[in-house]
Amino acid sequence: MNTLKQKIAIIGGTGLTSLANIDIIRREIVMTPYGEPSSPLIYGVINRLETEGAKNSENNELVFLARHGHAHNIPPHRVNYRANLFALKKVGVTSIIAVNAVGGIRHDMRPGSLVVPDQIIDYTAKRINTFYEDNLTHVTHIDFSYPYNAELSQSIIETAKQANIAIIQGATYGATEGPRLETAAEIQRLKNDGCDIVGMTGMPEAALARELGLDYASICVNANWAAGLSDDLISMEIIEENIKNGMAHVLQLLENLLG
Ligand code: HPA
Repeated sequence: MNTLKQKIAIIGGTGLTSLANIDIIRREIVMTPYGEPSSPLIYGVINRLETEGAKNSENNELVFLARHGHAHNIPPHRVNYRANLFALKKVGVTSIIAVNAVGGIRHDMRPGSLVVPDQIIDYTAKRINTFYEDNLTHVTHIDFSYPYNAELSQSIIETAKQANIAIIQGATYGATEGPRLETAAEIQRLKNDGCDIVGMTGMPEAALARELGLDYASICVNANWAAGLSDDLISMEIIEENIKNGMAHVLQLLENLLG
């Protein structure tokens, strides 16, 4: 049952271009001053497989957006983050649960495991990372000390515990530019900086959400050990296989949280 009392959006990343357990109500193409979002917005209710629960209740309607497009053909550095966030705000979304694939750096960030990050270090370099740049009446700096919404993150963690879904609480997300993966030396640098996981989509998404006053939390799926941390080179096959396993748990978790 969705007890969050907010209008929730899920931004699905690699491995989550659609929600298998959603009953779709409608689709909407939303235009924004920043261009088109990555995909039409999908409105629906989570379809609880085990119980009939609160199916079709209006309170449980959520919005789904595929960050990389439904065909998964928009790479992380080409995602129009501003259009995505603006579109969600425009349709009345108040809270966002982002799903992100990451590489594991800390020893417990095993491939396939889930983690709710609580901090970010931004290494991206070429992305438009603010709404506050043109036609300003005054310069604006948002507070971003704690980039993720603590209450929403806690709801995710509590729900996972109740549903017996293993999830790690707290991690620092290092956001890299991509689309290439990192070098082993870059990962050592990130580790020294205090990063526990590394991904390409956490920023500027989180900061743009904050600029729009949207609550934002993330569920990350560890897809691989980050560069140089295992004996194997990182292949798309390995990433896809681990994401597939992790996403099954994410769907279960979303079902318990929002269904
Ligand atoms: N690095 C950056 N982004 C990623 C990785 C990684 O190792 N795995 C999945 N997304």
